[in-house]
Amino acid sequence: MEQDIELLQEATAEAEQAQDSRALYEVKMKFLGRTGKVTALLRRMKEIAAEERPAFGKRVNDLREKLEERFSSLEEKLKKRELEKKLAGEEIDVTMPGRRGRTGALHPVTRVKNQLIDLFSGMGFEVFEGPEIESDYYNFTALNTPADHPARDMQDTFYLSGEFLLRTQTSAGQIRVMEKKKPPIKILSPGRVFRSDDDATHSPMFHQMEGLVVDRGITLCDLQGMLDEFAKKMFSETSKTRLRPSYFPFTEPSVEVDVSCAACGGKGCSLCKGTGWIEVLGAGMVNRRVLENCGVDPDEFSGFAFGMGIERIAMLKYGINNIKLLTENDVRFLEQFKD
Ligand code: DAH
Repeated sequence: MEQDIELLQEATAEAEQAQDSRALYEVKMKFLGRTGKVTALLRRMKEIAAEERPAFGKRVNDLREKLEERFSSLEEKLKKRELEKKLAGEEIDVTMPGRRGRTGALHPVTRVKNQLIDLFSGMGFEVFEGPEIESDYYNFTALNTPADHPARDMQDTFYLSGEFLLRTQTSAGQIRVMEKKKPPIKILSPGRVFRSDDDATHSPMFHQMEGLVVDRGITLCDLQGMLDEFAKKMFSETSKTRLRPSYFPFTEPSVEVDVSCAACGGKGCSLCKGTGWIEVLGAGMVNRRVLENCGVDPDEFSGFAFGMGIERIAMLKYGINNIKLLTENDVRFLEQFKD
């Protein structure tokens, strides 16, 4: 029985050829596996004469032990080599330049909205958000703008049905608040509004911020004092405001509010078209009829309201000349508003 010597040589030779532990495992299975050559020898036991069996069995077992020893020492060597190779491959070059992570930033409209909320909540205003789909009553009628009122033409409305529309102004929120809450009221109502209007300074969807203060003894002076504070915080420490007479159905008197031009300090430049002033919002004393519509006694209480376009404030503050830039989502534009 020279087979064991031959097998030992054959297996050793093949094992030494193995390039990695996987290949070595395959060689090992070829000889020592369940269908391997050494295992096959053991199966032949029955063909062997009974008296030769013990000797035969011992030789095969010796062979198996030797092979196992060889395989495991080779395996150890290969595994060590593989580990070294893996570790070498994972070496970190600390001198390599880092990969730059791209971080997002808040949209300028969101930034201005947050700034306005911060600013006004510092003065005691609470935020109330009304629905974007509004009824004709809240958006117009209760705001002293009944169906045949010419002021309805001031805003091109998207009607959804005879009764419902996409709100054209956050002023609708004033009614919702006054219906539920008795004075003193001091609320801020930010949100999206919609109008069929489209050019460099108008977009069919834009954002407004509404403010409403109702209490005993509220006057136009309170409004102007608050607006001065707003202009200083939003634009510049030296900003001033001026009120110009205007008309809104829901306020009486109504005013349009200009802020001194922060770009030229009021001297006159291309931004303010040489006037030194920029129009930023509409405001006024809440019309008695509006208070009555909400069950608030106009002889006991008075109030002021204001509404501003957030895009407009953002455009003035950051010198943006086309409202479309705010909805195009061009990263090169948006990137400029990182802190
Ligand atoms: N709702 C008006 C608009 O969209 C803005 C406005 C004017 C709101 C005067 C007010 C206000 O609360 O008092 O043009």
